[in-house]
Amino acid sequence: MKILQEKILQDGIVLSNDVLKVDSFLNHQLDPFLMAEIGKEFASKVKSGKKITKILTIEASGIAAALMTGIELGVPVVFARKKKSITMSDQNYVAQVYSFTKQESSDITVSKRFITPEDHVYIIDDFLARGAASLGLASIVEQAGASLAGIGIIIEKAFQEGGNKLREAGYPVYSLVRIKSLKNGVAEFMEEEEN
Ligand code: G4P
Ligand code: NA
Ligand code: NA
Repeated sequence: MKILQEKILQDGIVLSNDVLKVDSFLNHQLDPFLMAEIGKEFASKVKSGKKITKILTIEASGIAAALMTGIELGVPVVFARKKKSITMSDQNYVAQVYSFTKQESSDITVSKRFITPEDHVYIIDDFLARGAASLGLASIVEQAGASLAGIGIIIEKAFQEGGNKLREAGYPVYSLVRIKSLKNGVAEFMEEEEN
């Protein structure tokens, strides 16, 4: 996605060889026009024979893009919650997500009311690094007995293992940009044909 690559080059800050800061348009302040374009791109990229009935993301930074995709596809958007729910766990689907950044596991939860076996779910998230968040969301779709249309990612760090892990597990992954390297303070993208 050309305008997203340009935005990353212009406003992204390479913090280290593996971390890209994008808080001026994605993780703290949001660029609503870019988000609208991202929603259109996710909606047009997904190849699904069956009608998508729900978008699933995880709080907080996935919500904006998921919402715009939901508007494009005309379906509700569900976000998994990171805080432990005080309600009984038999009313929720729970998946464990290990964060390398924080070096700890945490539970993500989705109410059983909002994903059902009839659903065909499109997962959306902002970053794909090691794949823990996406695998957790996919596990929730599976627990619900729902089907998975695909996983849409705004920024895939292709030099980390998450993308391969998800593709090897058989999930269709739709990444809007794939970063090949963050070395020397510069974001380098995969060529189009590598996408
Ligand atoms: P994984 O899910 O792919 O395994 O990722 P990982 O555990 O490494 O990432 C944990 C958090 O860090 C996630 O956000 C993820 O989106 C974010 N993240 C990973 N790599 C980068 C990066 O290079 N830049 C930025 N800005 N974020 C990155 P989170 O903790 O769930 O927070 P939230 O922002 O969604 O609230
Ligand atoms: Na994030
Ligand atoms: Na995220």
